[in-house]
Amino acid sequence: MKTKNQPKHLLWHLIVTFILSNFITCFAFASPTLVSVSSLKGNTENGKDAYHTCALCHTPEGWGTKNGYYPQLSGQHPNVLIKQLVDIKQGKRSVPTMIPFADLIFDKGHQNVADVVSYISSLPMTPNNAVGKGDNLDLGEKLYTQQCESCHGAKAEGNNEKSYPLLQGQHYQYLLRQMQWIKQDIRTNGDEMMREHISAFKDTDMQAVADYVSRIKPDKNKVAESINWQNPDFHGDFVSVPDSTSSKTVNKSKNKQQ
Ligand code: HEC
Ligand code: HEC
Repeated sequence: MKTKNQPKHLLWHLIVTFILSNFITCFAFASPTLVSVSSLKGNTENGKDAYHTCALCHTPEGWGTKNGYYPQLSGQHPNVLIKQLVDIKQGKRSVPTMIPFADLIFDKGHQNVADVVSYISSLPMTPNNAVGKGDNLDLGEKLYTQQCESCHGAKAEGNNEKSYPLLQGQHYQYLLRQMQWIKQDIRTNGDEMMREHISAFKDTDMQAVADYVSRIKPDKNKVAESINWQNPDFHGDFVSVPDSTSSKTVNKSKNKQQ
């Protein structure tokens, strides 16, 4: 009797294993959303390893490059980082060079993304971000107060709850490019209401407001104590892409030949 029942048990075992493994796979790799990632508690220590690939472009300090090609990530709100990563992963914001790296962190599960974001959030901002020419700051201030403050905050500090990006202390050229791309709908995940606010802006208005914002100083406790601060989690032999492609990089890692 016992031996007769065994194949039946085996079959049930296989069916249950199949259903369970499918359930686990679906759960772990379901389409990411801001909520599915932000509801997880990030582990900064685990995020350190995953951030190594990001540092190739965003630099070990997360300061990006002064020419604005690579944005500073340090200091940005976790929900903003998560929303942008989800949008890039899903093709809602086109950053072609970053896609393989976004795939890499999402393929390891949503927890891995929460971990990288937690690590980035632990990094201090650069005290030396690039600013504009400084020749139209009154206009920049006026436009900022009238058109931007309601969402991005009085000091361009952003809002984590609402996923409004922090803009203070960001590189001038990056701010300018994003405004232009959002206005022209090249950045397709841009905010519709923001687009209306800047729809009548001329190039000079964009430059003035980006310049003004790039000069707003973040709170001292968000910024590194020196422009020579190096991320101690990276070893001397780490080489980031901007080292070879841009002489304007702000990364001062030991290995850097300036
Ligand atoms: C090959 C270079 C490269 C690598 C590697 C890379 N990025 Fe990026 N990333 C970029 C560029 C370029 C942009 C800006 C795109 C633009 O101008 O719209 C960007 C933008 C971003 C943004 C949006 C910033 C904002 O203020 O909206 C986030 C968040 C981001 N990257 C996170 C990461 C993370 C996390 C990793 C590692 C998993 C990573 N990146 C790896 C090149 C890279
Ligand atoms: C109605 C609210 C709103 C207003 C007003 C607004 N923004 Fe935004 N802005 C947003 C949101 C939301 C995003 C992020 C969109 C997304 O999810 O990709 C954003 C993104 C940006 C970015 C890209 C940041 C990054 O890290 O990539 C810049 C730069 C920016 N805004 C500048 C401005 C400036 C300057 C003004 C005023 C002229 C302005 N915004 C007015 C809501 C607003």
